[in-house]
Amino acid sequence: MLIRRIAADLEKAPGLVAERGSVLGTPMHLLASTTSTNDEAKHAAKDGAPSGSTWVAEQQTAGRGRQGRAWVSPRGENLLFSVLVRVTCPPSRLPPIALAAGLAVRDALALAAPEASPRIKWPNDVLIDGKKIAGVLVEAVTAGSRVQAVVIGVGINVHTRDFPEDIADRATSLALASRDPPDRAVVLADVLASLDRDLHVVLARGLGLLRVRLEAADALRDRRVRSDTGDEGTASGIDDDGRLRVRRDDGVLTRWSAGEVHLV
Ligand code: BTN
Repeated sequence: MLIRRIAADLEKAPGLVAERGSVLGTPMHLLASTTSTNDEAKHAAKDGAPSGSTWVAEQQTAGRGRQGRAWVSPRGENLLFSVLVRVTCPPSRLPPIALAAGLAVRDALALAAPEASPRIKWPNDVLIDGKKIAGVLVEAVTAGSRVQAVVIGVGINVHTRDFPEDIADRATSLALASRDPPDRAVVLADVLASLDRDLHVVLARGLGLLRVRLEAADALRDRRVRSDTGDEGTASGIDDDGRLRVRRDDGVLTRWSAGEVHLV
């Protein structure tokens, strides 16, 4: 069933974005339902939509996560949005952009839930108490081998309290993590404002200037990790290209550039 309306809480988001002076989030398209907000942004990119355009949906019928997974969210409960950023860059810039987005989400969640301690789990997850509260999916609009625009898709669990059985022990939400009732519009505007500030820096100078904040938020730092391919070691921070530094047991420092990481 499709919902036809946007809940009143989200309708105040464009005003909050304007108050914060953020280019990201302007214009903001509030949708009752779509396949995926990333699809909306990618199609609009080809139709000339301006940089900063943002699509927010109450429901996605084909929401997607990283590595071909689905992103399922009950309608009207959470934040599902995508931002179009027109930037010409090599594909190697995408991981730093995704990390900056994760950091923006982390910072907005820290404001919304001061008693919680949100952290970034490389490459693109945000965790509270070791459970996933948000994910970021960055997709490129390309011409040949160059990136012409990026679409930054974000899913944040806000009001959901009951998760499907298969993820219940690994997922959380603001409603579960915070004493205060969450406000979707404020979280959305805070993410966009924070990303607006950091993105220029990352695009111009890489991740270096975010290093201190990234390190403070790194959920994997000094933890034993294993990759999908079976490599193991101790996570030792994130480099300026957005790769995870992992020290193997033989002392060699390696860098992982993609894939899923498991805590051992
Ligand atoms: C992940 O953790 O695997 C990334 C999840 C990204 C989900 C968001 S929801 C809004 C946007 N539209 C999508 O289809 N995916 C992203």
